[in-house]
Amino acid sequence: MNQIKIFSPATVANVSCGFDVLGFCLDTIGDEMIIKKTSQKGITISKIEGYDLPFEAENNVAGVSALALYNDANPDFGFDIEIYKKVKPGSGIGSSSASAVGSVFAMNELLGKPYNKTQLINFAMKGEALASKCEHADNLAPAIFGGFTLVKSLSPLHVLQLPTPKDLFAVVIHPQIEIKTSESRAILPQDVSLKNAITQWSNVGSFVHALHTEDYKLLSDSLKDVIVEPYRSQLIPHFEDVKQTALKQGALGCGISGSGPSIFSLCKGEDTANKVREAIHNVYSQTTIDFELHLSKINTEGIKIL
Ligand code: HSE
Repeated sequence: MNQIKIFSPATVANVSCGFDVLGFCLDTIGDEMIIKKTSQKGITISKIEGYDLPFEAENNVAGVSALALYNDANPDFGFDIEIYKKVKPGSGIGSSSASAVGSVFAMNELLGKPYNKTQLINFAMKGEALASKCEHADNLAPAIFGGFTLVKSLSPLHVLQLPTPKDLFAVVIHPQIEIKTSESRAILPQDVSLKNAITQWSNVGSFVHALHTEDYKLLSDSLKDVIVEPYRSQLIPHFEDVKQTALKQGALGCGISGSGPSIFSLCKGEDTANKVREAIHNVYSQTTIDFELHLSKINTEGIKIL
C-alpha cells in the first residue's frame, strides 16, 4: 500500500466534569487526509484545503506529529500529506487533534502498523502541543480509540476506553468565532478550592459509573463543571442562554466543548437531540453571530480508513 485516505473525526474534550481527561468522538464532523509514500525522505505537505495553515511540516500540527513518528521509525522513504480541513481551527471540537492524529494514524498503516494506538497518541501530542502550547490527550484519545475515553495519566500515557450508552446523541453548536486553546487555558486559575475539587471528582467518578451502567439520570447529574466553566463561559457569547435552553428541552447536560467556543449537549435519543438542536438554533438565530449546528451520534470507531 502506497497511499491511504482517512477520515479524522472531531471530538469533544473535557465533557464538563473531566477537564483534560474526558473526551468523546463525534461521527459526522471531521477532516479528510491523504497520505502517500514518497521516494524522497522526509515529510512534505503538498495540499491544504479549507483553511489557511502552514505548509512547512515543522510549523503544521499534522506535520509536527508526522515528524515525531518519522524520526522514530526512520524509514528509507518519505511521506507526503494532503489535508482537507473541515474542522475550523479554534472551534473547540478538536481541530488540531484531528490533524495531529490523522497523519500518524495513516503513516502507521502505510508502515505496516508497527505502533499501537497509545504510541500514536504520544506522537500526536507533539503536534497538539504546537497548537495549544501544552501536551494533553483528551481530544486525541477519543479520535483514535472512538467512543468515550479517559486519560488516566500522560506520563506514562495511559488511556482508558469507556463504554458508550447506545441512546446517546450529541448536539454541538459552533459559533463562528475563534478561541485559541492557549488563551483559554491562560485564563484558568492555577489553584482550586477543596470544596470545588470534591464536587468535581465526585462528578467524574459518577459520570464514569453512569457510562458503565447506562444510568442516564446519573449521567445527567454528573455533567457539571464548577471549576473551568465559570471562567471560560465568559468568552462564549450567549453560553448561558444556550445551556438553559438545551436543559429545558431535555438535554442530559450542556457544557463547553474543549476550550470553546463550541457548546455541546448530550441527549438521550435522537428525538430529544432534534428538539435541542432546533431550540439552540432559535437562540443563536436571534444573535448576529454566524454558527454551525451539528447533531451526531457518538462515533465508537474513531478514525476511519476511507
Ligand atoms: N482539555 C483541553 C482544554 C482541550 O480544555 O484546554 C482543548 O484542546
